[in-house]
Amino acid sequence: MYSILKCICGTKIEEQNQIGTISSAMNYLSLPGQTASTNKPRVQVALAPKHGLMDWIRKTSNTPNLSGANGKILTITEEELAKHNTKTDCWSAISGHVYNITPYLDYHPGGVDEIMKGAGIDATALFQEVHSWVNFASMLEKCLVGRLVTSKKEIPSNKSKPVINRLRFEFRQPTSKSLTCFIYTSCFSLARESIFVNIENSKKILVLVYIDGFVHTIAIELLEFITNNFDVRISSNNRSQIEIDLNKQTDQMWKSIGKFLPNHLSIVAIHDFEPIYFTATLIQRTPETHDTDWYTFSLPSHLFMFPPVGYHVRLRQANEGLIVVKPYTVVRSLNNEGNSSSESIVELLIKHYPDGGMTSILRKLLIGDTIEMSSYEGTFDVHRIDACETLILVAAGTGLTPMMRILNYAISQINIGKNINVFLLFFNKTAKDILCREKLDTISKQYKFTTHHILSQPEPEWTGETGYIKGELLRRLLPPLPQKDNETHRLVCICGPKPFTTLATDLFKENKYNENHLHLFLA
Ligand SMILES: Cc1cc2nc3c(=O)[nH]c(=O)nc-3n(C[C@H](O)[C@H](O)[C@H](O)COP(=O)(O)OP(=O)(O)OC[C@H]3O[C@@H](n4cnc5c(N)ncnc54)[C@H](O)[C@@H]3O)c2cc1C
Ligand code: HEM
Repeated sequence: MYSILKCICGTKIEEQNQIGTISSAMNYLSLPGQTASTNKPRVQVALAPKHGLMDWIRKTSNTPNLSGANGKILTITEEELAKHNTKTDCWSAISGHVYNITPYLDYHPGGVDEIMKGAGIDATALFQEVHSWVNFASMLEKCLVGRLVTSKKEIPSNKSKPVINRLRFEFRQPTSKSLTCFIYTSCFSLARESIFVNIENSKKILVLVYIDGFVHTIAIELLEFITNNFDVRISSNNRSQIEIDLNKQTDQMWKSIGKFLPNHLSIVAIHDFEPIYFTATLIQRTPETHDTDWYTFSLPSHLFMFPPVGYHVRLRQANEGLIVVKPYTVVRSLNNEGNSSSESIVELLIKHYPDGGMTSILRKLLIGDTIEMSSYEGTFDVHRIDACETLILVAAGTGLTPMMRILNYAISQINIGKNINVFLLFFNKTAKDILCREKLDTISKQYKFTTHHILSQPEPEWTGETGYIKGELLRRLLPPLPQKDNETHRLVCICGPKPFTTLATDLFKENKYNENHLHLFLA
């Protein structure tokens, strides 16, 4: 007989169902729709000399306070905030904190006009839409004026909101040495990519389940210590059920499971989810081109994570007192799946910028050094390829990174008999900038993919396509869109710098493609 454990938590446990699952009275939650990411072009702003990131770090570390409030933390109403909306007196609120951003305006890499859109208002949504990874709290620490108090009453919306089923779960003790966590979801086609598990300090278990654009969290501080050996699986007879086998450090029956942590049973849209960080170790770095390297990181053994195709992780590291965070697409990932003799790894392909905030840190990393890496983020649904007859990949520079796993997935589909015509248009400056050229050319030959390298600054000996992306090129290099395309047979994936992605999108739309044909890889 299994012993079924109850959870201790600060709040009253409202309900216990017939199989012993403990769930709160609120099983269902209505949530607003996911915030759409912006399609705005990248704003190229030349910062004035001595106004780079490092200059800002120096300025903030040499000045005790930049808020104008002498370090006092004030309570600020929206009316007060609205008064500070000029370039010489500019406040902005992000995530409930009001900052005097006047001294930062000229250091803003997106330009003064862009950041002024957040002047005198609660700019949280605007900020998150453009660059959710930017660590404003650390960068603007010295500019903190106070906390924002909102006076607006919630206006009830008549719009129907999606109803999202909260996870249900229970723990069972098959023996005094082990523990199994059963998680019941509403998704009947769970994949291992939907599940992220982290065991922190052998005491806290954190499970993230990614379902339909939302991240569901189970976060429990366990009663006693467990080992880092655990097994995660999707139940073989019920694809909506997750089972996690845990091993106790001491051989004893537990009377309860422990206590819920504050984020337990939270449901957050992927776009708004604050990712979980863990320590990754650099185990290999191999040059790919003159300015781009492969980085192989090994993941800690207390982690279970399979980043889905087209998803990215964030890297985070302190640089001279400032925390720098940047997203990178996972190009390859291997998980040891409980086999402790092999390592779980994540491979990234990263282009270096001589004065880049993150890439200059990465360049200095030695084998064996560690960096903080996050749980994954993204919106690409790889199963769109399953129904696809023509797959068009349009990449510029490091925009190739999501395409590498997409190509591998397309190959796996072709190998099981699917007929997919693959076209890759890869834009670079020069031939020496082309990433993974040999591999691309080999698989193109083997699987009859059509690959075009297009160079904007070709070497004299280059005989291939030249120039920038334009409508004429798309019409010439790609098969025409069938008159009655039913919109599921053709998929165009676009990734590159924002102006490239925006231009490519416009050009496809001018050529009769619609939103349903396109997937844009954006932050
Ligand atoms: C979803 C996503 C996935 C990504 N995946 C990858 C990937 O797989 N591989 C990869 O290499 N990159 C990827 N990137 C880009 C990556 O996140 C970083 O932006 C990139 O590595 C540069 O970061 P950095 O901190 O080193 O440079 P930054 O400090 O941001 O600077 C980059 C360069 O631009 C210059 N610069 C910045 N702002 C200005 C300005 N206003 N005026 C003039 N010059 C300026 C800097 O001086 C530097 O030379 C991805 C980005 C996103 C959004
Ligand atoms: C609230 C209004 C703001 C708007 C509308 C805005 C807009 C932008 C835009 C359009 C870019 C260029 C993005 C790109 O090229 O991909 C950018 C970059 C940047 N902004 Fe802002 N910004 C705002 C506030 C801030 C604040 C308050 C900070 C500082 C804490 C900040 C820090 C940065 C940084 C560091 C970058 C470079 C990001 C990168 O390349 O990864 N921004 N911003």
